[in-house]
Amino acid sequence: MSASSPPGARRSRPVVANWKMYGDRRMLAAWGQALEERLGASPPAPVVVCPPFPYLLLFAGARRFALGAQDVADEEDGAYTGCVSAAMLRDCGCRYVIVGHSERRTYQGERDPLIARKVAGALAAGLRPIVCLGESQAERDAGRTEEILVRALEAVLDTLGPLGVESPELHLAYEPLWAIGSGRPAGPEDVASVHALLRRRLRAHDATMADRTPILYGGSVRALQARELRALEDVDGLLVGGASRDVDEFHAICRAWHDRERPQD
Ligand code: PGA
Repeated sequence: MSASSPPGARRSRPVVANWKMYGDRRMLAAWGQALEERLGASPPAPVVVCPPFPYLLLFAGARRFALGAQDVADEEDGAYTGCVSAAMLRDCGCRYVIVGHSERRTYQGERDPLIARKVAGALAAGLRPIVCLGESQAERDAGRTEEILVRALEAVLDTLGPLGVESPELHLAYEPLWAIGSGRPAGPEDVASVHALLRRRLRAHDATMADRTPILYGGSVRALQARELRALEDVDGLLVGGASRDVDEFHAICRAWHDRERPQD
């Protein structure tokens, strides 16, 4: 990639499998092996697998994909029963961690300040946090999408301060709640406009941060959406839930996303 390439061409373009709370040891091991075999025949590109915590070490030997976790504690260590620290995730081979997924915001009551602290801790430990932001159907209907996204993003950036600007590891994911698990992905125009908004907000803080921060899309992604979205300048990756559990579909998504360069590249 030449120094004169457009900034988007230099950003990482990961496809991330979020297994959520599904599967068992046998299923995950077989799926991981099948994915390794399929990716062996594909060009190398970032593919990230986020299994439930107990199964992280199953993937310690994976060579063709990176490992991520679905959550992380905001504290470094201590008497926090049930929590898993960023250092532990690193120790288990994780490179990425999903932070602030809407299911954690909804069911565990996570709010922006806690999420921001988790992001800071993950960065400090050398993880790549994938910070999820998205509006609900009611918020969208009320025309509050921008307000919700900007508030969540600013909470993270304010807490991070210079760490956010300096760290090349920060990733964002736009995940509209109404698209997650609904079989109804956001259309390319909606995705393009929200991603452009997030990019502008990043740029208001720091131009370099804006140019290098990958912004992923998640919400009912299938191979068809991967093909549609890959041409969009500000869409740098995909976060895949339900479809990732079918190894053939997930591999089809990875291929659709990675196999060809974007037209403007
Ligand atoms: P979905 O989930 O692909 O099943 O919509 C995406 C996510 O929650 O990350």
